[in-house]
Amino acid sequence: MAIPVILDVDTGLDDACALLLAALHPDLDLRAVTCVAGNADVDQVVRNTQVVLAAAGRHEVPVARGATRPLLEPARPARHVHGEDGLGDLDHAALGLPTEPAEVDQRHAVELLRDELLAAVSAGEPVILVPLGPLTNIALLLRSYPETAKGLARIVFMGGAAAVGNATAAAEFNVWHDPEAAAIVLDAARELQVPVTMYGLDVFYDVRITLDEADLLLAMQQPAGRLAGALIRAQCERFAATSATIGDAGAVCAVLDPAGLTTASLAVHVELAGARTRGQTVVDQRQWVGDLDHDPHGIPPTQVDVALGVDGERWRALWLAAVGRSGSGDTGR
Ligand code: BDR
Ligand code: CA
Repeated sequence: MAIPVILDVDTGLDDACALLLAALHPDLDLRAVTCVAGNADVDQVVRNTQVVLAAAGRHEVPVARGATRPLLEPARPARHVHGEDGLGDLDHAALGLPTEPAEVDQRHAVELLRDELLAAVSAGEPVILVPLGPLTNIALLLRSYPETAKGLARIVFMGGAAAVGNATAAAEFNVWHDPEAAAIVLDAARELQVPVTMYGLDVFYDVRITLDEADLLLAMQQPAGRLAGALIRAQCERFAATSATIGDAGAVCAVLDPAGLTTASLAVHVELAGARTRGQTVVDQRQWVGDLDHDPHGIPPTQVDVALGVDGERWRALWLAAVGRSGSGDTGR
């Protein structure tokens, strides 16, 4: 039976790689996609998500608009990485992408998540939630409707890191963009007993596609294949590199093929205060942690399955096979 999944995205070149995998892989049952401000403003994120689902021929997947900004701070889009439109400023017409976008659900993202998860509770079929952007929607969901946690088999989120940052020297973009939301999600997951996998920067860059492979995808008949190739090529060009990460798509690979990931169960806190470390995920790798009563915020740590290693070759093949197969019958040309 296909694994039921919901993606929460800030689409984003690499979110698009993740959406294509989730939309096209036969072992996943993509129930819904919810959108949050992050790489781009939320309306642009919705448009980008519609483009990707249409290219995959998955117009029927509900897409909903969510939080327009982080809980406390203004939105800070990553145009320097993902382009003015958040999706690499691709030429959609030249790529022959479908002109009919996937529809937008009228519910707020949090309401769509609530409805899907409560349906999953009733069906006795819990869903894996895969947040790939700032965790604003998920924090609002778990604090507003904690009963939805029973519909969650696990949260596999892209964010944080044990060792490095990208938005700052200490913090990864998704957690840095809304640190309060990330802290709330980890706290709620502990309280509501939802297992969590953190797919962070320690592994994020290690599943890579070459320019040559991108060009093979660009030559495909199916629009999803061409879009996949263009997403990789756009990243290679932006970073003057001969290969690019599938990024967020690795978190979807972690759902499909957990054996490709090495994790350790570790205590994680989100730093909310530091002048240079706000948004850092503080991963406790000490052998002996002693007395935690002196923790400055008094919030108990959450045990998280932290991704520390990945079989990049195995997941490269997994992603290429799915987007290279490109299920949609619509060639777009
Ligand atoms: C994360 O930030 C975004 O730019 C990417 O889409 C990814 O989710 C990496 O830090
Ligand atoms: Ca993302």
